[in-house]
Amino acid sequence: MLNVPSGRYPPPIMRVATLFLSPVTSLVLLYLALAGCQSTPTPSSTAGSPSIEEASVRPGINDSFLQPNLDIEQWTARFEVESREVFRLRETIVQTLDLKPGMEIADIGSGTGLFVPYFSQATGPEGLVYAVDIAPDFTAHIDERATEAGLKNVITVLCTDRSVELPEASIDIAFICDVYHHFEYPHSSMTSLHQALRPGGEVVLIDFKRIPGESSEWTLNHVRAGQEVFTAEIEETGFEKVAEYPILEENYMVRFRRK
Ligand SMILES: C[S@@+](CC[C@H](N)C(=O)[O-])C[C@H]1O[C@@H](n2cnc3c(N)ncnc32)[C@H](O)[C@@H]1O
Repeated sequence: MLNVPSGRYPPPIMRVATLFLSPVTSLVLLYLALAGCQSTPTPSSTAGSPSIEEASVRPGINDSFLQPNLDIEQWTARFEVESREVFRLRETIVQTLDLKPGMEIADIGSGTGLFVPYFSQATGPEGLVYAVDIAPDFTAHIDERATEAGLKNVITVLCTDRSVELPEASIDIAFICDVYHHFEYPHSSMTSLHQALRPGGEVVLIDFKRIPGESSEWTLNHVRAGQEVFTAEIEETGFEKVAEYPILEENYMVRFRRK
């Protein structure tokens, strides 16, 4: 991973320590103690609560990314090729995101990093790009790629299959392209992402249209569910759908806002 600029990305354990020592948190804890710490009713939605019990919705789907010594050339040839719609239309996709200089974006499941240079340029020197993936060989590759290209606002994050491992309230927008159907524990991953987003922060989802009778056999077998199911799952973790962009044919692109 890239050397993290000092103070920009404290490890989670440091953040927890900082959190408990902060004066604001101390005041909140004092208030709760004085108020008698009434337990609140359990909300019907599970938004914000990581599900420890969540079972994998697709065991083994990421095995090919998690092997040691990934063949990066082979994956680059597969992901960064004109026949792949999201690669061919990458510039349109990035324009549609409408990123502003200074924004902090997380590319969740960044793979070979095809979007990273575009995000780096759009967010600029005051912005930050977190390239987040569960596959160490992909994050190492993006480190090399960013160093070679002189992209100084890129940080790679090796996350887990249940958590994006980003600091709380650290990002403005999360980009999830061709990744949601790879989440083995979607509720847990989305809950951790909800916590990583600032209030009003957004998630942009791109995934394959999966329509029985229309989609290819490969899509029907590889992608576990269609847009309605993924939308409902994401809304369940505390997001509302705010826009849909009909710019793609094989995929859909939807924006959600953190509630
Ligand atoms: C099909 S690739 C897409 C890569 C990239 N987004 C693109 O469009 O070129 C899926 C990526 O998601 C990553 N991934 C799978 N599960 C993940 C999770 N729970 N959190 C973060 N990344 C994950 C995989 O390692 C892989 O790099």
